[in-house]
Formats: sequence, structure tokens, C-alpha cells
Amino acid sequence: MAEKQRVCVTGSGGCIASWLVKSLLSHGYTVHGTVRDPCDIKNDHLKKLDNAAKNLKLFKADLFDYKGLSSAISGCSGVFHVACPVPSEGVLLTEEELMRSALTGTKKVLEACTEAKVKKVVVVSSLAAVFYNPKWPKDVAMDEDCWSDTQYLHSLEGYWPYYVLAKTLMEREALEWSKKSLADVVTVLPSVTVGPRLQSTLNSSSLGLLQFIKGGIKSLLSEKLYLVDVRDVADALLLVYENPGAKGRYICNSHSLYNTSLVEKLKNMYPNRNFPESFIEIKEKGENGEMLRLSSEKLQNLGWKFRPLEETIDDSVVSFEVAGELPKL
Ligand SMILES: NC(=O)c1ccc[n+]([C@@H]2O[C@H](COP(=O)([O-])OP(=O)(O)OC[C@H]3O[C@@H](n4cnc5c(N)ncnc54)[C@H](OP(=O)(O)O)[C@@H]3O)[C@@H](O)[C@H]2O)c1
Repeated sequence: MAEKQRVCVTGSGGCIASWLVKSLLSHGYTVHGTVRDPCDIKNDHLKKLDNAAKNLKLFKADLFDYKGLSSAISGCSGVFHVACPVPSEGVLLTEEELMRSALTGTKKVLEACTEAKVKKVVVVSSLAAVFYNPKWPKDVAMDEDCWSDTQYLHSLEGYWPYYVLAKTLMEREALEWSKKSLADVVTVLPSVTVGPRLQSTLNSSSLGLLQFIKGGIKSLLSEKLYLVDVRDVADALLLVYENPGAKGRYICNSHSLYNTSLVEKLKNMYPNRNFPESFIEIKEKGENGEMLRLSSEKLQNLGWKFRPLEETIDDSVVSFEVAGELPKL
């Protein structure tokens, strides 16, 4: 296959980025992937991807390391900015560190893009940058015009609002930057992203699903679930990159359901699996209000399609079993 283009993926060893790198390599791209430590065995899965030996080069770069980012981005016509710390059991950053990594990191990536005269930048934001807006009319589906309200986020307690704030501000920064640069910036806003993993480590949302299945209802998965398959997110990122008509923000959500429905689905799909007692504690549907109405129509109008939820669940369960995180039946 002839070389298509050279592109950079930041944080390429992460869950979403690994599927993106796999897809880019299979579509003939040459990929510069940034990782914090190319020798860490947790990044070995990247080296085993088809075409990786020839077309994947890993660069050591923290989000604070302009020189590292700049050498990875140099010579690339496109950049996918995926790296960002995601709060999880193993990711114990202070609020300030989290905000700094997301914001300073994004600024440094964009500066390096300016220097390298990159033509297109795709930034992974989050549905969280849309969601937290109490002023949005209840009867109107949330679309790309809706932004999380930063004042409202400041009023919320706990760690999670800082992540949401960080994603909202970094997305705004990227879209503002595109107004004064020659590069197009498109942002993709995935909902909670689950599905099979290419990497051996457990990222935050996969851990959330695993805890949910194993019985920790205190997982990332709350009463109302907004889910998308990691492979469909990777498809969305490539789709908006390759489509010259793609502009602005794209919500990327496939399935909106109550956790009671997920429990029902799991029980139907795996009648022989023992599910935790905590499943019966899960609240009745809609007790705490209606699901938010969310629209991924803009992305679907570009041709985006998504998998059925059953396929995502089944492939996630197999992935947990293979990793020894769930017992095989
Ligand atoms: N998973 C979801 O449900 C979800 C939903 C919406 C949006 N997102 C966004 O999607 C992106 C990827 O998330 P993911 O779910 O794939 O999580 P992940 O597997 O934890 O990936 C995060 C990546 O960011 C890298 N990273 C974190 N801090 C860094 C720093 N200071 N310098 C350089 N790299 C750094 C990590 O590198 P290390 O491996 O070295 O830690 C890792 O490669 C993030 O931007 C996240 O906000 C995720």
C-alpha cells in the first residue's frame, strides 16, 4: 500500500489511541505515536500491530515536554491529540496537576502544530464538555451547540468536576486556536468509551465496566449511562480527519440507557454467570430523572455508524476474561 500521510497520535498507548493507531496503520498511514516511555512494556502492544514495524515510530513525550512533542509532530500533516490524564484508581493527580496536564499539554501540542505547519488537528474532548449545563432546555436534545457551564462546574464538589472543567477548557482552547492558525481543528466528544482493549492496562472507563459487572455499583458507570464502543470512536476520529467537510465539534455517543437496562441485558446475555448482589440495589429506572437527550446526528450525517451494544458488551467481557480480570465460564 502506498504511504498515505504522516500523522501524529499523542498518548498512543492509551485505550482509544491504540485503536486509532491500529486503524491508521491498516489504512496505510505512517504514524508518529507519543508515549511517556517507549520502553515500558505497557506500550508493547503497539509494536505488535500490523504494519507497525514499518510504519509506526514511537516518540518519548510527556505533555509538558515541548521538545519531545515537537519532534514527534515535525513532518506530520495531521495530529490526533488524544493524551490526557483520566481520573481512575491508578491516576492520582491533584486537581491542579490534572488541569495543568490537560490545558498546558493541549497548548504545547497546538504550538508544536503551528511550528510544524500541520494542516489538520483532531482533538479528543469528551461528552462531559457538553453535559453539565443546567440551563439547557430539558425538551431540546443536547447537540454540539451545548457547552458545559464552567461556573456551574466550579460550584460542584469533588474531583470529577475538575476533569470535566479541564476537558471543557482544553476543547475551547483548541477551537479558539484554529481561528488564528492555518490548521483546521475538529473535536470529537465521546461518551463513556468501552469495548475490547488492545493494551494490557485497565483504563478508567474499562475499569468502570469491569467493576459494574463484578459488583461495584460505585463505579464510573452511574444510573444513567451514555456508552460508545472504542472501535467506533476510532472510526469517528479517522472519519472527521479524512472528511474535508468536517468542522467544529462532533458528539460521539451510541447508546443511552439506565443501568437497570444494562443489568437486564447482562443477565439475558450471560444466564450462567453469577452477578453480584449489588445488582438488586440498583435503583428503579428513572428514579432520579430522565435521561438527557443527546444527538450524534452531526457525526452520523458524515457517515458514522456504530455497533450494537450487545457486541460491545460481549467483546468487552471476552477481553476481561482473556486478561484474567473476569473468570471464564
Ligand atoms: N474512556 C472514556 O470513557 C473517555 C470518554 C471521553 C473522552 N475520553 C478522552 O479520551 C482520551 C483517551 O482516554 P482513554 O480512555 O483512552 O484513557 P487512557 O487509556 O488512560 O489514555 C490516556 C492517555 O493519555 C496519556 N497521558 C496522560 N497524562 C499524560 C501526560 N502528562 N503526558 C503524556 N501523556 C499523558 C496516557 O499515557 P500513560 O499511559 O503514560 O499514562 C495515556 O496514553 C482522553 O483525552 C480522555 O479524556 C475518554
